[in-house]
Amino acid sequence: MTTYSVALNFEDGVTRVIQCDEDEKVTDAAFRQKINIPMDCRDGVCGTCKCFAEKGAYELEFYLDEAMTEEEEAEGYVLTCQMLPQSDCVVRVPASAAACKTAPEAIAGEVLGVDRLSDTAFGLRVALAKPLGFLPGQYVNVGIPGTELHRAYSFSSAPGAREASFLIRNLPGGRMSTYLAERAAPGDALTLTGPMGAFYLRPVERPQLWLAGGTGLAPFLSMMEYLVEQGSDHPVTLYYAVTRAADLVELERVTALAGAVGNVTVVTILAAPEEDHARKGFVTDHVTAEDLNGGDCDVYLCGPPPMVDAVRAHFGKLGVQPAAFHFEKFNPTETEAKAA
Ligand code: FES
Repeated sequence: MTTYSVALNFEDGVTRVIQCDEDEKVTDAAFRQKINIPMDCRDGVCGTCKCFAEKGAYELEFYLDEAMTEEEEAEGYVLTCQMLPQSDCVVRVPASAAACKTAPEAIAGEVLGVDRLSDTAFGLRVALAKPLGFLPGQYVNVGIPGTELHRAYSFSSAPGAREASFLIRNLPGGRMSTYLAERAAPGDALTLTGPMGAFYLRPVERPQLWLAGGTGLAPFLSMMEYLVEQGSDHPVTLYYAVTRAADLVELERVTALAGAVGNVTVVTILAAPEEDHARKGFVTDHVTAEDLNGGDCDVYLCGPPPMVDAVRAHFGKLGVQPAAFHFEKFNPTETEAKAA
């Protein structure tokens, strides 16, 4: 029997990936896996189970126009009590995880190694007790061994693998940074809780403009790993901006992944005035109206809050708005504060 993965994204950012048999409706599969998507009639009559399918092929069995209109169906809405997946799917559920009687999954992990990639970044590799389904671009909370604390990091690895990796900014005095610099050893046990986040790669249906600031590169590595598997018919331009040349990490991997995906252009930018580099300054000094393809492009940005604001203002100056602008404000100090 064929089984499909269905990622359920709840409105609070929690994602749970369930398995759905080919003849099983999504609400039934979710219920079997202890997730209660809001529903009432189970017959396509009331509309209570209406969600939004962001990705995937599916069939809908019987439903009344009162429950969901044809226009809604054409937009991508689905009645999950009548939804039979025909491929892996991503479904947005308009309720919190708690309201659906679920929560982020906690997965046991074991440190495989810590790589000192630069003065400003660590690479952390973790073996997982079981493969963790997530959407490329999402993050998990990583427990700091020996403490009750956790920090949020985007995966830099492919979804569904037994090994996960992360790029972690070195914050002198930060609890995770101190652990990685001074105590971390292969075999350390830690817990990952998630996945979470609304920053993930949607179906690639037009050219892509990806903007990474510092260790905000991580989710784009995961996205490229995913595209190596899935392929893409559309070009991707990745601007990777850091302060100094020494802060450009994982370049070999970026280049290898870009080559494996094909049709990916990687552009590096350095902000420090004293650096000798072809492109200096900020991404807003280099992103052109041409990059935005007349608005027919999806923009993804992972970087510090000022970068998000500056890029948004830059689109206004260029007079071109992308079809979609997804961003993750990556603020290490805030993350430390929020997670503490
Ligand atoms: Fe009533 Fe699905 S539960 S339409």
